[in-house]
Amino acid sequence: MEREIIRTQDGSTTIQIKDWNECYHSKHGAIQEAKHVFIKNGLALFPNQKVSILEIGFGTGLNTFITYLEAKGFGQTIDYVGVEAYPVSEHELQAMNYLEELDAEDSKDVFAKIHSVNWEEKNKLTETFSLTKRKQFFENIDDIEQFDLIYFDAFGYRVQPELWSTAIFEKMYKALKPNSVLVTYAARGVVKRSMQEVGFTVEKLAGPPGKREMFRARK
Ligand SMILES: C[S@@+](CC[C@H](N)C(=O)[O-])C[C@H]1O[C@@H](n2cnc3c(N)ncnc32)[C@H](O)[C@@H]1O
Repeated sequence: MEREIIRTQDGSTTIQIKDWNECYHSKHGAIQEAKHVFIKNGLALFPNQKVSILEIGFGTGLNTFITYLEAKGFGQTIDYVGVEAYPVSEHELQAMNYLEELDAEDSKDVFAKIHSVNWEEKNKLTETFSLTKRKQFFENIDDIEQFDLIYFDAFGYRVQPELWSTAIFEKMYKALKPNSVLVTYAARGVVKRSMQEVGFTVEKLAGPPGKREMFRARK
């Protein structure tokens, strides 16, 4: 499928899949969305502790990098697993402007490592941040009670409804520890019902700029 690099409204880049008219991030602002959905409504709930995170859709690594940057302020140690079946090409990664837009030039070595480390192994990027990239289909995830937090960042229901099904959310529920949380940018009734059906308690929260609502699901 044809892909294009575009700038979102906050100045940060994303990848657009033209045939689907679908982007890797919100067109209203990739960085703003990541900070609101995954950091403020997810990561911030676990201050001063070890947090194990599962990301559904590693993609460009933006959520991973922002988590690394923000976790320092929250006093956290992060064990991060990013699942992705179709890794983004080197050429596209080079075109992302996240270091500049996040004013994070001094962390460029970590950003480079996020992309250069081997898949399928746990890599200690810093004293407080470990990353495992798994090249895997979401449909094959079978972790049991491993994670405190899931960033559910699949493409939208409009283009991949099968990824917002009870079959997938059941896997997510199983992968989470007791008293844990899944956050997602989505806010459709059909998604909420699938989450509730597998046992999640679902809250509707204010969405990031340009989107009215989003969900947070608790186990
Ligand atoms: C919305 S994008 C993720 C954006 C990413 N979180 C970021 O910060 O760049 C969704 C991702 O899911 C991946 N994907 C789509 N279908 C998949 C599947 N069935 N299994 C695993 N990955 C899939 C896509 O390749 C894409 O990278």
